[in-house]
Amino acid sequence: NKDINILGIETSCDETSAAVLRNGCDLLSHVISSQIKTHQKYGGVVPEVASREHILHLQSVVEQALQEAKMGFGDLAGIAVTYGPGLVGSLLVGVAGAKAMAYAAGVPLLGVNHLEGHIYANFLHNPDLEFPLLALLVSGGHSHLVYFEGHGKYRVLGQTRDDAAGEALDKVARTLGLGYPGGPYIQKVALEGNPHAYEFPRAMLEPGSLDFSFSGVKSAVLNTLNSARMKGETVNVADVAASFQEAIVDVLVRKTLLALAKTKAPALVLAGGVAANTLLRERLAEATQKRRIAFSYPPSILCTDNGAMIATAGYYRYLAKDYAPWNLNAIPGLNL
Ligand code: KG4
Ligand code: ZN
Repeated sequence: NKDINILGIETSCDETSAAVLRNGCDLLSHVISSQIKTHQKYGGVVPEVASREHILHLQSVVEQALQEAKMGFGDLAGIAVTYGPGLVGSLLVGVAGAKAMAYAAGVPLLGVNHLEGHIYANFLHNPDLEFPLLALLVSGGHSHLVYFEGHGKYRVLGQTRDDAAGEALDKVARTLGLGYPGGPYIQKVALEGNPHAYEFPRAMLEPGSLDFSFSGVKSAVLNTLNSARMKGETVNVADVAASFQEAIVDVLVRKTLLALAKTKAPALVLAGGVAANTLLRERLAEATQKRRIAFSYPPSILCTDNGAMIATAGYYRYLAKDYAPWNLNAIPGLNL
């Protein structure tokens, strides 16, 4: 059997997920058990609850993934797992489980950086993507611009200095009473609103900087809502959501275009939960088309946290024989 089958496991936050990937591009199974309903009651993820949920679901999620792929552990070439960044208790469940499974199956353990995983989701449907390329990674915890020269060979050009894009979306959505996670709700409500009703600030930082800062725009929105509330005025939630989304997308697009101009990268990929945002996709598609830059992004299900992206990143680690040691630890603050 010459096929390279990788089992990917993801437990860094509030999804317990496992996938079996054949030869880096053939997704045989993909199971995602989401805890969103459990955490919705609290308006955000409760770490202790998340770890316990992962313990309850990891084994059955993995079993289901193997079953759907019509495989046993003996058919696997390696087991890939997220070891950071994320919630330490959640990460430990996946890491400990993957170690036990890989050791028992006698196959290599592959440690995957969750952020690399998000970017590698692009290679699942598009294994022929050519380097160099620029990646805009925007998730609940991170906002990064990364320049890739080859598999595993990359340089971080800029990142957020305070809130991540998704984090700002989630916090504003919570204040607007829209629900968790906030990004999809903001996107939906914004459809009914005027994106120019409010001029929220766009933090561009020093000239030429590729870093982001989203705490200013978040505070500006919260201040607008508070002062209206104090004056007893009602705000149009759709207008606020649309104007806020416009401000976030505007900054992301402008910084990405700056990075493309600086690096002369011929291709752009989008990654992370916020990459599911339609406005962001449309604006980047338009801007890259004008500049003749190739642009792609994963389907939405592969943008938010999932095991398939971890299996994909793990596949390339496997090819590079970059195996993890048996004492692999969870690293909650792991960066790119
Ligand atoms: O990558 P992800 O699933 O988890 C992290 O690693 O953080 O990203 C989750 C983030 C949340 O902040 C969520 O609000 C945001 O992605 N998100 C969206 C959309 N779908 C998810 N933001 C904007 N538009 C969306 N359609
Ligand atoms: Zn993520």
